[in-house]
Amino acid sequence: MFERLQQKWKVKGGQLALILITFAVGGSLTGYAARQLMPVFAIGPAWLWIVVYILLVTLLWPIAVLLISIPFGQFPFFIKYIKKIGARIGLGKRQESGVRSSHNREPLQIHIAIFASGAGSNAQKIIDHFRDHEKIRIGLIVCNNPSAGVLSIASREGIPTLVISKEQFFRGDAYIKELNENKIDFIVLAGFLLKIPVALIKAYPGKIINIHPALLPRYGGKGMYGRAVHQAVIDAKEKKSGITIHYVDELYDHGKIIFQAHYDLGADETPQSLAEQIHKLEHEHYPRVIEKLLKA
Ligand code: GRF
Repeated sequence: MFERLQQKWKVKGGQLALILITFAVGGSLTGYAARQLMPVFAIGPAWLWIVVYILLVTLLWPIAVLLISIPFGQFPFFIKYIKKIGARIGLGKRQESGVRSSHNREPLQIHIAIFASGAGSNAQKIIDHFRDHEKIRIGLIVCNNPSAGVLSIASREGIPTLVISKEQFFRGDAYIKELNENKIDFIVLAGFLLKIPVALIKAYPGKIINIHPALLPRYGGKGMYGRAVHQAVIDAKEKKSGITIHYVDELYDHGKIIFQAHYDLGADETPQSLAEQIHKLEHEHYPRVIEKLLKA
């Protein structure tokens, strides 16, 4: 249960403990304050007393938890939490987003399609990150490999999938119709090995990004994926490698760079150990960078 909460609120163990303490103390304070205030209202029937009590608790609770959150250093978490509840019940101003939905429904909902052809560890991290997000949804997994691990992830997570054929992707309509039907606003490539057709880039201008397991512009281009990238980095005796998140254009691994993170190679680095380190960096940064981009 605690793990689930850590995932949901994206916090570590220590912070989770402080949040739960704040909830407990804030809740008790609310009950105490409400009971102290009740005599102020000269109320007749019991049902009216209950209604007023509930209203009072509803009003006092946010104030109490916010106050208690200050000494525990959790004010930023609780102000966000309370705003989120407020937005859900239709109070307060909803935040605007950088990428607007181009579809005429739920204007502040952004639907992402993840394109992946492999194991899907990045896809899983992205799904986990946005699981309870108020505005961003993973609406579709697109894959060209019917036996890819990412499809099992999609089925476990209840996310619709689109298994595409190379033929229709390149010589057909690049599945733009299906993406529109699924109301997709933004495309995230995470281990997708087919080149993105120009028609799709034009349909989603500035709204397709990719992650590459090296520091572009070096070690990119056709054939540079998986082990080949890490082997090339080691063969060249590089001291650093890393990850690059970039916009997708008509060329392989070429669009404008959005973000890079570095890793210092160890003395005995192998392609496999390097791949593991790079994966860690990808998992740490890709979901956060996507969220930042969509809010920019
Ligand atoms: C990642 O290393 C990514 O950089 C590259 O493909 C790999 C996908 O790995 N584009 P996974 O399927 O997410 O585990």
